Amino acid sequence: MTAESRGQLWHGRFADGPAEALQQLNDSLPFDRRMYREDIEGSRAHVTMLASVGLLTDVERDRILVALDAVKTEMADGSFVVASSDEDIHTAVERRVTELEPAGAKMHTGRSRNDQVATDVRLWTRQAIDDVLEAIFAMQLALFRHAEATGDAYLPGYTHLQQAQPVSLAHHLLAHCWMLSRDVDRLLEARRRTNVSVLGAGALAGSSLPLDPHVTAELLDFPAVFDNSLDGVADRDFVADTLYALTMTGVHLSRLGEELILWASTEFGFAQLDDAFSTGSSMMPQKKNPDIAELARGKAGRLLGNLTGFLASVKGLPLTYNKDMQEDKEPLFDAVDTVRLTLLAMEGMISTLTFRTDQMAEQASSPYAAATDLAEWLVANGHPFREGHAIVGELVRRALDGEASLAELVSADSRLGPVAAALLEPGVSFARRTTHGAGGPEAVAIQLERFRERLATDQERAANART
Ligand code: ARG
Repeated sequence: MTAESRGQLWHGRFADGPAEALQQLNDSLPFDRRMYREDIEGSRAHVTMLASVGLLTDVERDRILVALDAVKTEMADGSFVVASSDEDIHTAVERRVTELEPAGAKMHTGRSRNDQVATDVRLWTRQAIDDVLEAIFAMQLALFRHAEATGDAYLPGYTHLQQAQPVSLAHHLLAHCWMLSRDVDRLLEARRRTNVSVLGAGALAGSSLPLDPHVTAELLDFPAVFDNSLDGVADRDFVADTLYALTMTGVHLSRLGEELILWASTEFGFAQLDDAFSTGSSMMPQKKNPDIAELARGKAGRLLGNLTGFLASVKGLPLTYNKDMQEDKEPLFDAVDTVRLTLLAMEGMISTLTFRTDQMAEQASSPYAAATDLAEWLVANGHPFREGHAIVGELVRRALDGEASLAELVSADSRLGPVAAALLEPGVSFARRTTHGAGGPEAVAIQLERFRERLATDQERAANART
């Protein structure tokens, strides 16, 4: 087949058509097709700009815009027929527009697929970030609602997955909320860097035609325009930034997922999952499995793969555009889909689960969990901390050796006595942790308000970024 008979847009220079293997490896239409709206939006802006600088007549512009709309409809309703020459979404749309409207042959004036694809990916990423932000807010709200509703419930806090000090359940849930707030920050930052127009950079060097990149930027709602055409077409930092922000979100979800897996186990018994958000076993009738949380844990690996795979693809690339850069889309699309779906499922699972605060309290009521508070009580009564630590440590050892209960030993100790022993009563010690950001109920009440404000501010920042 000759290049001309296949109808390639670049056929002029070629006597022969592409080999089958080249075509299969090279064609990106199967995956970049999902950017058809962005591609058409970019073309609408480009064509409008071309007319505004006199490179198209108003009639030509309007005819091309009508054809672009027709192609958009075909893409949306599935009636678009792919031709063998359609390498990617850009060539597919242009080919079809030109079939419908001869003036379409002027559409690509002053433009290259290099600035076109970078524009499309920026438009797509900007929208994707907005969608992910909404999903994060919903997830934060699900956690926050539980935090508000749990009152003074408390559970053991852990280090090394060993019981450490009791903390309020709200405090624990809020910790996950704050992590997600930083993901919001990162995504908004990635959005700011994404939100730059590169249309008008051409293949790499700009144009001898009187293009006006500021017009297209404005039409596409980009608040900034590229400064350097080489950088404009070669930059994929924004993809890496977005992938990192998404990966970090995924890592946070994996940690939350792991905790829910533990909490839903018989051994912990801290949480009961709703039927709609858990699965059964094909063999063991008694089972109720936390698959969503496990997938949240597992998907983080895939996100990490997308990030590192993409960075490996672009490392060492000489300026400017290289076909390696076509490898940006699949990891980006996959990361966005993965994080959105995981957030949605996890949000559903969290909204519907019930916490077993009785089990939590029981586990947190071990008198040993208040050992630190005893040492701090000694500090408040004039002992150096190291000495207090040693005194309590020795009592703990004697209690573990079976001499008497810790409470009895503390009561009998002249440096501590019955007042200190009262700290070992369940739920007493954690309530005394009142310092800034601490896990006791008073401090947590303040924190709940702080988070409520933070969430409102973040939602406002996200809305402002869109306008
Ligand atoms: N499908 C290509 C990509 O995704 C579009 C740009 C192709 N540019 C070119 N000069 N071959 O990167």
